[in-house]
Amino acid sequence: MRQTLIAGNWKMNGSLAANAALLDGIRAGAQGLACEMAVCVPAPYLAQAEAGLQSSPVAWGAQDVSVHESGAFTGEVAASMLRDFACKYVIVGHSERRSLHAESSELVAQKTLRALSAGLVPIVCVGETLAEREQGRTDAVVNAQLAPVIAAVGEQLAKIVIAYEPVWAIGTGKTATPAMAQQVHERIRATLAQADAAAAATVRILYGGSMKPDNAKELLAMADIDGGLIGGAALKAVDFLAIAQAA
Ligand code: PGA
Repeated sequence: MRQTLIAGNWKMNGSLAANAALLDGIRAGAQGLACEMAVCVPAPYLAQAEAGLQSSPVAWGAQDVSVHESGAFTGEVAASMLRDFACKYVIVGHSERRSLHAESSELVAQKTLRALSAGLVPIVCVGETLAEREQGRTDAVVNAQLAPVIAAVGEQLAKIVIAYEPVWAIGTGKTATPAMAQQVHERIRATLAQADAAAAATVRILYGGSMKPDNAKELLAMADIDGGLIGGAALKAVDFLAIAQAA
């Protein structure tokens, strides 16, 4: 019912030359895979992703979007601009944006809405820090991040993707165990169901945080883990494809 989505988050990595090789490798290996695949690339490389992935089964997207439609917002990228490069997805509320750029959950909710209005599929990231987990506040933190998004999107809930990314697992090599991740995913789905039960059954909830070829299968086998948002391992075609093959 929910098609697995394996999405790469390249973060601020890449160059024209390195991307060309990576896109070629992904494109070559992606044929015939059962899961859906996507790469979220730095904005300057969207044209390259579009050219390199067109007529392949792999979608592409961006890592952030402006909350504004257009105008005097130096340095920002509008949702309509992402659409100009045929983006399907855009990541919103990644923990690095929340912590390094002070993005609030309210802002993330408005960005989610902006993405939807432009016809993009937002991948909304939520997740707790290590301190929050140790204080037993994981559910409270995740729910507080989700609440404004659920309120903002209203009847469009079925159109979003959620990524649960425990901050302590991102780029650290520490992965949540499949059981730990499943527990949070299940609670996220229950929270969504309180707003819209039909949408909650179809929304894909991805896991992110040191997902690698050697742990992907176990994580993706869990009932409420519908895919992965992959950082480091998305920068090597063989690793990214191995994760997609495990799905
Ligand atoms: P990671 O990053 O796979 O390198 O831990 C995931 C992410 O931040 O989206």
